[in-house]
Amino acid sequence: MAHPTVRRATPADTDGIWEVFRTCFGASPAERDAWVAQLDPDRAKVIDGPHGEVAAMTHVRPFDQWFGGRPVRLGGYSPVGVLPHHRNRGWGRAVCEAQLPDLRDRGEVIAGLFPASLAFYRSLGFECAGSYVHRRFPVGDLASIRPSRPVAVRRGTPDDVSGVHRCHAAAVPGRDGAVSRSDRWWSHLLPPDLDGVELYVVDDPAEPAQLLGYAAYRHRRARPPFDYAIAVIEVLAEDPDVLRALWQVVASSGTQAPELDVVGPAEDDLFLLADQASPDVVRSEIRWMLRLVDLPGAVAARGWPASARGRVELAVHDRQAPWNDGRWVLEVEDGSARATRGGDGRIEVTVGGLSSWWAGYATPARLARTGSLRTTDPTALRTLDELLTAAAPVLPDFY
Ligand SMILES: CC(C)(COP(=O)(O)OP(=O)(O)OC[C@H]1O[C@@H](n2cnc3c(N)ncnc32)[C@H](O)[C@@H]1OP(=O)(O)O)[C@@H](O)C(=O)NCCC(=O)NCCS
Repeated sequence: MAHPTVRRATPADTDGIWEVFRTCFGASPAERDAWVAQLDPDRAKVIDGPHGEVAAMTHVRPFDQWFGGRPVRLGGYSPVGVLPHHRNRGWGRAVCEAQLPDLRDRGEVIAGLFPASLAFYRSLGFECAGSYVHRRFPVGDLASIRPSRPVAVRRGTPDDVSGVHRCHAAAVPGRDGAVSRSDRWWSHLLPPDLDGVELYVVDDPAEPAQLLGYAAYRHRRARPPFDYAIAVIEVLAEDPDVLRALWQVVASSGTQAPELDVVGPAEDDLFLLADQASPDVVRSEIRWMLRLVDLPGAVAARGWPASARGRVELAVHDRQAPWNDGRWVLEVEDGSARATRGGDGRIEVTVGGLSSWWAGYATPARLARTGSLRTTDPTALRTLDELLTAAAPVLPDFY
């Protein structure tokens, strides 16, 4: 099959890119202006169809994603689309692959996405790095959450929105996988006028205008005879009693609102708070994926456990990014790490497998069991395992 020509988009492609998005994701014309406003053609790649139409496109959004207490520059693929009659001829893969040199040039050392197909993106070097689960809890499952000390929860107002942003920004460095949110991102999640949003906050008694936590949700339609159900936007606090007090408020609507929609990871903190965990609450469950774009850049960018110390010699297989392919020595010490060329390559690993491990998602043993890592040296495998004892990353922001 002839290799298609992929080019960087220009503002003149905006209509064509929107048309691919509309066709691929069922968007309505009413969504066009808001969608186009967040498109940066300079970060999009396209393939032209036979009539000069945009036939395939990818767009990559910039984020900082936190790993080991440090922000790592992430290029988030969003969206990827090929017009239906141009599919299955390698164009989807080609537009995705063509982003990699640009990502590297911009210093976006990792790439991520919420995949429609694992196989498609695995073939491009991505691998699973975290879970994203939509659950619908009967409110009764959460109704008995209580703080162990009195906590003053008050109704939030638009004046609290910037405090919510600051509270989130203070929390993300401690949460592997979380992304920093831009004002634009926040405005989708929590409109500045709080239109349609119920917000509850807890003030920090030590610091005026700072919040210890917040809970935001929307009312959504419920099945009759109930009046409404609750769609949680976010409940966030570092102090366990503040967290419990906020959940108590959210779950207190149970007499009228029987169900509560929450998005979280497979192993949600809620299970450490709830009295009940109904077995059938999962509505949808997907895995987001990650790819190291610039291997030494990504190794240097994340934080590593302070107690980890060691050296492993890797042979990395990366078909799309030749600058990653080949032998590397990975050394970790004092909370930092570096990757340099060389070594005997005694651990063979695909770039996807390495990406999943780097993120803290899959252990070396899991990767070995499933075929993306191979070695005949159990000591090297143990050393690799000891370098990163991270928890599975959590990313609640679907991009
Ligand atoms: C997913 C999509 C982008 C794939 O585009 P495409 O041009 O048909 O894909 P390609 O022809 O480049 O396929 C590359 C490889 O992935 C495989 N693949 C493609 N779509 C796949 C799918 N849905 N499931 C499993 N494998 C898939 C192909 O078989 C091919 O593998 P091969 O080389 O071993 O034969 C396209 O189907 C699409 O636009 N879908 C609607 C929008 C969407 O879901 N976008 C992705 C959101 S994350």
